[in-house]
Amino acid sequence: MKLFVWHTPELTPTDHLPDCAVAIDVLRATTTIATALHVGAEAVQAFSDINELMSKSEAWPLEKRLRAGERGGAQVEGCDLGNSPLDCTSELMAGKRLFISTTNGTRSLQRVQASATVMTGAMINRQSVVTYLLDKNPDTVWLVGSGWEGGYSLEDTVCAGAIVQGLISQGATVEVGNDEVIAAQSLYLQWEANLLELFHKSSHGQRLLRLNCHEDLRYCANIDLLDVLPIQKEPGVLVKL
Ligand code: MLT
Repeated sequence: MKLFVWHTPELTPTDHLPDCAVAIDVLRATTTIATALHVGAEAVQAFSDINELMSKSEAWPLEKRLRAGERGGAQVEGCDLGNSPLDCTSELMAGKRLFISTTNGTRSLQRVQASATVMTGAMINRQSVVTYLLDKNPDTVWLVGSGWEGGYSLEDTVCAGAIVQGLISQGATVEVGNDEVIAAQSLYLQWEANLLELFHKSSHGQRLLRLNCHEDLRYCANIDLLDVLPIQKEPGVLVKL
């Protein structure tokens, strides 16, 4: 398995695609997606464009849909929810489709959505991603961070590193595709016992703390909490494997 880490959608190559792409936005889109599917959402449909989300979701029965919109960490007006994974309760989500658009996470997903296999990863479902990759052993795997508006983010890189470390420690034969793989693994090994502290230091973590999202950070820092793998069944639509 040849692994590549790309820090942002902007840094991700545009002239080819991998056999398997893992979109990562630990704070908070891919944590929210994993949680929504874990508690029983029928599917999560992701949009980079909020207006497209509004028009496409209009066609869905009202009682079977939820709209989640986030920009700059805050809820978008007209949506039912923002992007807090803690809002994803089974009472709210069971049997519904979650239509979601976020500042960066849904853009990284869109960037790789034409890959043969697309999934989302976060700290909370790291082991589910590792287990899938160990089982299927795809030739090329891209771990794609979301960053923040084109910039690097610690939390996505440390999650990519946690996946790399999980694969290596559980016996995968890994070929390192780019230097970012080693950098991500090193970041994880440095911080694995203090992930919440790292998230508090990160720029988006600080943005979320200013919005009083302390509990969100705490939740997002839980490694291997849920056994759930969000996998793309059609472009932009993720279901639980
Ligand atoms: C994003 O897509 O940039 C994030 O998920 C933002 C957030 O809601 O924390």
